[in-house]
Amino acid sequence: MSIHIAAEVGEVAERVLLPGDPVRAKIIAENFLEGVRQYTAIRNIYGFTGKYRGVPVSVQATGMGVPSISIYLHELIHVYGAKKLIRVGTCGGMNENVHLRDVIIAQGSSTDSSIVKQVFGGAVNFSLLADFDLLSKAVDAAKNLNVPVKVGNVICADLFYNDYDDPNGTFGDGKNTLNEKLRRYGVIAVEMESAALYLHAAAAQVQALAIFTVSDNLLTKELCTPEERQSSFNDMIKIALETVIQ
Ligand code: HPA
Repeated sequence: MSIHIAAEVGEVAERVLLPGDPVRAKIIAENFLEGVRQYTAIRNIYGFTGKYRGVPVSVQATGMGVPSISIYLHELIHVYGAKKLIRVGTCGGMNENVHLRDVIIAQGSSTDSSIVKQVFGGAVNFSLLADFDLLSKAVDAAKNLNVPVKVGNVICADLFYNDYDDPNGTFGDGKNTLNEKLRRYGVIAVEMESAALYLHAAAAQVQALAIFTVSDNLLTKELCTPEERQSSFNDMIKIALETVIQ
């Protein structure tokens, strides 16, 4: 047992899917895995282990944002021996070519979080990258499932509500300058956990990948309903499971 996960060592698989939402973790476990056992409910942040195509896979909820997922990543990797970690979450589209419910894979993660500086002391702007093996397998899995995916750089943000991004907000000339610049530099989506995932994976030399479905678009202001956010993510889950078991 670790501080935030009630499992015994051995109850968590080496292959782990990481949704933020505990309810989504339960939905994934119940609908995609066989022989499911719940191993934790501390803070109602659920974790389950079952089998996908005969391979043990865990689904561990992480909560939202870099600090929360960092706690679960540390314990999964260093206490339970997780080796392949795939985040399955939602993101906001950053440009007009990214549509609601598109599947996005984070090849790289840029971040405004301080975690890179906390580790490297500001000496290095460490590149936060997906594991190439998982990335290429996920792209292949998506092709086999006939699901189009967009692969690119994402921005992992600490603030979901950021008045710097409000066109009528209090900053500068009223333009969304930072997001506009990120957009011009090819960043396709915004989310809140991938930087932690890629940094922890690099530190421990384990494999990690972040996959998302688009729940809203910062530019067009389109928005999925809460029901759609919770239940319309099957394509992404299938891609993640087909990838993580290889
Ligand atoms: N911002 C940050 N994280 C997100 C968003 C967003 O718009 N949508 C889903 N996750």
